[in-house]
Amino acid sequence: MCGIIGIASNKSVSSNIINSLKKLEYRGYDSAGLATLKNNVINEKKCSGRVEQLEKILFKTPAEGSLGIGHVRWATHGIPNEINAHPHSTEVVSVVHNGIIENSSDLKRSLENKGKKFKSQTDTEVITLLLAEELKNKKPLEAVQDTLVKLKGSFALGIIFKNFNNIIIGARRGSPLAVGYSKNENYIGSDSYALKSMTNKISYLEDGDVCILTKDSVEFYDSNKKKINKKVLILSEDKNIAQKGDYKNFMSKEIFEQPITAKNCINEYIDKSRDEINFYNFPLNPKTVNKVVLIGCGTAYHSCLVAKYWFEEFTSLSVETDIASEFRYRSIKFSKDCLYLFVSQSGETADTSAALDLCKKNKVKTCSIVNVVESSIARNADWVLPIHAGPEIGVASTKAFLGQMLLLYMLSIKLADLRNEIDKKEYQTKISDLKKLPNLLEKCLKSEEKIQFVAKDFLNSKGSMFLGRGFSFPIALEGALKLKELSYLHAEGYPAGEMKHGPLALIEDGLPVIVVAPNDKYFHKTLSNMQEVIARGGKILLITNNNDSVISENVRFTINLPSIEKSLSPFLSTIPLQLLAYHVALLKKCDIDKPRNLAKSVTVE
Ligand code: F6R
Repeated sequence: MCGIIGIASNKSVSSNIINSLKKLEYRGYDSAGLATLKNNVINEKKCSGRVEQLEKILFKTPAEGSLGIGHVRWATHGIPNEINAHPHSTEVVSVVHNGIIENSSDLKRSLENKGKKFKSQTDTEVITLLLAEELKNKKPLEAVQDTLVKLKGSFALGIIFKNFNNIIIGARRGSPLAVGYSKNENYIGSDSYALKSMTNKISYLEDGDVCILTKDSVEFYDSNKKKINKKVLILSEDKNIAQKGDYKNFMSKEIFEQPITAKNCINEYIDKSRDEINFYNFPLNPKTVNKVVLIGCGTAYHSCLVAKYWFEEFTSLSVETDIASEFRYRSIKFSKDCLYLFVSQSGETADTSAALDLCKKNKVKTCSIVNVVESSIARNADWVLPIHAGPEIGVASTKAFLGQMLLLYMLSIKLADLRNEIDKKEYQTKISDLKKLPNLLEKCLKSEEKIQFVAKDFLNSKGSMFLGRGFSFPIALEGALKLKELSYLHAEGYPAGEMKHGPLALIEDGLPVIVVAPNDKYFHKTLSNMQEVIARGGKILLITNNNDSVISENVRFTINLPSIEKSLSPFLSTIPLQLLAYHVALLKKCDIDKPRNLAKSVTVE
């Protein structure tokens, strides 16, 4: 993870570095730092904690200079403290790094054998010390290029040099890096979002590329040290600037804007006059494709799991789902008639990106479902379906999950239609039902008051279980994940039918058990499983849209959701689970937008 920024300008850069670091904090927030250069002196400031802390330090002791680099850290090597925070500097060079240097132990040993002393526990410091060696007899560009060949692993780097007052060097292998252009100012940054307030002109480095920038020029070199040109992309205006507004935090804003998220996504893809889904340029012939493989991590993976049920129900395609970190190392038998679908909010998740690269190496067709359209995963796939959810800032994914499910749902019914596997009338009824979704989501959000009340039950409990069958099983997994990441309480998601095969042993008096049981073909089966839990003392929170009051007997609390077409229930059931995690975390006074140990964009494997 980690976020990096670099600015070469004709005016002081530290306040713009701080502003950009605030935007990059979603990538890591356990420490922060910057280094500026003035009169051949490197001014380094760093601290553990948030960018706010760094800002306070700069307020007392400013860092002057019209050239500088900054960093927000998500610790990989070494605890989050001031020493391990980036930049890592010597007398002659200062480095910020995103990624992991896999051969850092070997490199460290050989540097130590040469008498070099390390200050930190990080892998990054080997880069600084290797560079300092190379700089003894080489110019910066050559020194960087010759250092990079010694590194194994992934990196995006920002580097400044004591004796070269006007240049920043950036480099990329595995971790993303963008370059931004402006008048009298040029930038490097981990993403375009960090640069957007300063420029809308961007280029992206590819793996192996190095860039060297001054305030007036940018040059690019490929891994063979050959000078190359880059396309300059003009970023679209951000209609949806990420502001919290009246909300306590971004997560609550993002939960509550889901009806709009759904509306935007539906408007983007559904032609309302014809009740038709506009997906063009399928990378494979929809009639001859015989399999889809859905790949993602975390919440994005859960959207893949839900989609498996949709694809299987509406099409004759065979469907597999895979966690990207597993997929990338298995001996996969790739098939030309299979569509490999990659789901990622950020579009930068290292494992998902590597799984996509593996598919590309095997020359099979890929599709990405992303929120960030300028991301690496979007750029590398054969076909991109953006979810149009707007920036998601809260680390816990909420509205992006909804957008991912929406795209996957639309894709499943569109493929069924193109393959003549669904009756035209049924297809159009499904589209009409989809259009009702924003209003129904609005109604689900009204469950907040009841949820706030039940949230107290979780504070003193040992843990909790989330159960569901069919579409509701992945929703249970997602509910448990949200609770874990936000409130740091143990929670497990399980297929309700699996309880008696082991997990039932965990049920004891008062254990909160959340049962997701919409009115679908699994309903009665799930209810029987729920009774088995009640018989053993489990305290049930039932989430259902079967509003028969008898069902609620022996249930501590029922959240009644509106009726909806059966296959769309996952959209509604998700809402109370997000609210539950949110309110438990709020009661526990956790940092909701930035849960401990996590980061929004997981760019390390
Ligand atoms: C959980 C969460 C993570 C992400 C996962 C994949 O709330 O946000 O589990 O879903 O890290 O991230 P993306 O979607 O950016 O690939």
